[in-house]
Amino acid sequence: MATSALNIQKLLALVLLATTTSAVNVPLALAPASEAPVIAAAHVSLSIEGDRWTSWSGTTSGNQFFYNLLDNIKQITGHAPNLRIGADSEDVAMYHSDVNFQQATFPNSTVITPYPEANSLVVGDSYYQTIRFMPPGTHVTWGVNLGANNLTAAYLQTRAIANTFNSPAVKNAGIVLDHIEIGNEPDFYPSRGYRKGNWTAADYVENWTAFANNVSVAAGITPASHTKFMACSFASIDAGLSPTRAFDAGLVNSTSGKLISTISQHMYSGAFCSGGDFLLQGLMDKYTIRSNLTTLVPDIRETRARGLQYVLGETNSYACHGAPGVSNTAGAALWQIDYSLYALQLGVSKLFFHQGIGYKYNMIQPAPLNWSSTTDAPLSPPQAPHIQPQYYAALVVAEAIGMSTTTRVAEVFVDSAVVTGYAFYEKEQLVRAVFVNLNGYFNASAPRGSVHLDLAFAGQGVQGPAAVSVKRLAIDYASDVAGLTWGGQTYETADGRVAGQLNMTTGPVSAGVDIWDSEAILLSFQ
Ligand SMILES: *[C@@H]1O[C@H](CO)[C@@H](O)[C@H](O)[C@H]1NC(C)=O
Ligand SMILES: *[C@@H]1O[C@H](CO)[C@@H](O)[C@H](O)[C@H]1NC(C)=O
Ligand SMILES: *[C@@H]1O[C@H](CO)[C@@H](O)[C@H](O)[C@H]1NC(C)=O
Ligand SMILES: *[C@@H]1O[C@H](CO)[C@@H](O)[C@H](O)[C@H]1NC(C)=O
Ligand SMILES: *[C@@H]1O[C@H](CO)[C@@H](O)[C@H](O)[C@H]1NC(C)=O
Ligand SMILES: *[C@@H]1O[C@H](CO)[C@@H](O)[C@H](O)[C@H]1NC(C)=O
Ligand SMILES: *[C@@H]1O[C@H](CO)[C@@H](O)[C@H](O)[C@H]1NC(C)=O
Ligand SMILES: *[C@@H]1O[C@H](CO)[C@@H](O)[C@H](O)[C@H]1NC(C)=O
Ligand SMILES: *[C@@H]1O[C@H](CO)[C@@H](O)[C@H](O)[C@H]1NC(C)=O
Ligand SMILES: *[C@@H]1O[C@H](CO)[C@@H](O)[C@H](O)[C@H]1NC(C)=O
Repeated sequence: MATSALNIQKLLALVLLATTTSAVNVPLALAPASEAPVIAAAHVSLSIEGDRWTSWSGTTSGNQFFYNLLDNIKQITGHAPNLRIGADSEDVAMYHSDVNFQQATFPNSTVITPYPEANSLVVGDSYYQTIRFMPPGTHVTWGVNLGANNLTAAYLQTRAIANTFNSPAVKNAGIVLDHIEIGNEPDFYPSRGYRKGNWTAADYVENWTAFANNVSVAAGITPASHTKFMACSFASIDAGLSPTRAFDAGLVNSTSGKLISTISQHMYSGAFCSGGDFLLQGLMDKYTIRSNLTTLVPDIRETRARGLQYVLGETNSYACHGAPGVSNTAGAALWQIDYSLYALQLGVSKLFFHQGIGYKYNMIQPAPLNWSSTTDAPLSPPQAPHIQPQYYAALVVAEAIGMSTTTRVAEVFVDSAVVTGYAFYEKEQLVRAVFVNLNGYFNASAPRGSVHLDLAFAGQGVQGPAAVSVKRLAIDYASDVAGLTWGGQTYETADGRVAGQLNMTTGPVSAGVDIWDSEAILLSFQ
């Protein structure tokens, strides 16, 4: 008996070693804790570099590929992702009534930055009016120029934006302007040559208020209007300006300051501006994600204490358009799922993932690429419009949210250094859960590990659901740049619509669920 038990133990140990499977108990509360936040349908939204906006939207007709990808999300949650348009380009942009769509000049491409941002941009009314091609009901934030310190320029842009959103084509489609943002990353203005080196929070507030006094009138922003201001948009929490410092300098004290509904901060996990070697596992790391995001907590508290929303108005993996082999991979999709949902737990009410034509960290490449976004090598023929792995992250989060506008999310305690989890509640009842295994699986040199999740319900006297269906974001290797499937289906199609047979498996909750290294799963309870 003793010997055979020992043998079985040895055998078990061998099996465990061979497949590196471990098991964890996962407590799932059947009802949400009181502090579990509501998740917005557009929690995962897009920030779009303004210099090539019409490559996203289309000019005389809409860009159907981009439309379809936004509409896919809308079909899942009822809302297309929100769009924030501008970024660095917003402080370069000038308005001119004679310009058809846009005129931009770009620096030469380099290996580090194959698609640099425009060094000049002039836009006309038709540039803004292409917003009418977005899915009906899309919510928009548009940036105007503060960097140039030219009130007339900001005024003319604002007037063109206001005319656009008051036009019948846009109004009838229910496309609404949530915010105007005055200036992008003003904490970086001295280094960008837009302001003198001793530019302080008080200077920012003075400038912002002077512009907002004008812009609010030009845009019809009042205490009663839907449109409000998104303010701050700071690049870094350590470049001298912060939401808290801006509040202390009186940002929300003025009449215009009271028209701010949302404070925006930007965040990246690092920067590829001068290149460098970044490891994918360094990005997809449970503790880095937590330590990066928790640095925002003091400003989130100050913001929410004033009754304002706090968003990451521009974010993604590594600044300056991403790092090759990291930002454009399946691993980055896993990072995005955990990053988005963990940020919500801290009080971030939306994340605008930054996108530009040919940027490495995009979810979507909506236009043909004439040269490589990772190596700068010419592509002949051009690479057709396509999605990148992070688009699947948006799909996973959208399906977890579902059609309810009051879905609440709580982080699930998973006693693992690599697996993270979130429980989703509708009408106070557990309906779904997302788990992400951030352990990188890079090649077949070793067997792929997995973690067995033993699901244990916690709740008051009620029996939990008996069955669970599992939908998998299947990834061959964390470094893959394509070929992912979501429930067996692909979105890597010419028109951006889903293809293939849906494949989900259903089993008893008591059997638990396995999650492979470098995989995300969506559980739906029945
Ligand atoms: C950009 O590239 C063109 C053509 O290769 C070259 O003539 C020009 O000098 C380059 N400009 C800069 C600023 O490097
Ligand atoms: C805003 O600025 C423009 C251009 O300088 C000016 O014509 C307009 O009167 C200003 N409006 C307000 C309300 O300050
Ligand atoms: C300010 O912007 C207006 C409108 O674009 C432009 O006509 C004017 O030249 C600009 N002023 C300066 C000093 O650049
Ligand atoms: C800011 O810098 C300018 C020159 O760069 C100088 O004239 C001014 O006195 C400085 N202001 C403060 C408050 O230091
Ligand atoms: C913005 O700030 C700069 C320097 O900080 C100042 O010279 C300029 O007058 C300000 N602009 C407005 C419209 O207040
Ligand atoms: C802004 O208003 C608050 C609340 O009334 C006040 O405590 C604070 O001193 C004001 N700040 C500035 C810079 O005026
Ligand atoms: C995020 O984490 C990375 C890796 O530890 C670190 O280099 C970076 O400074 C962090 N960023 C912030 C804003 O905490
Ligand atoms: C790619 O080439 C096409 C055809 O010449 C051109 O219309 C398009 O603007 C180019 N794309 C970029 C991003 O430069
Ligand atoms: C395979 O992946 C492991 C990490 O999981 C790495 O150490 C090793 O270098 C990789 N081998 C190859 C051939 O890429
Ligand atoms: C469906 O998914 C399961 C689990 O990932 C897999 O074992 C099975 O082969 C898939 N079936 C089909 C028809 O693809």
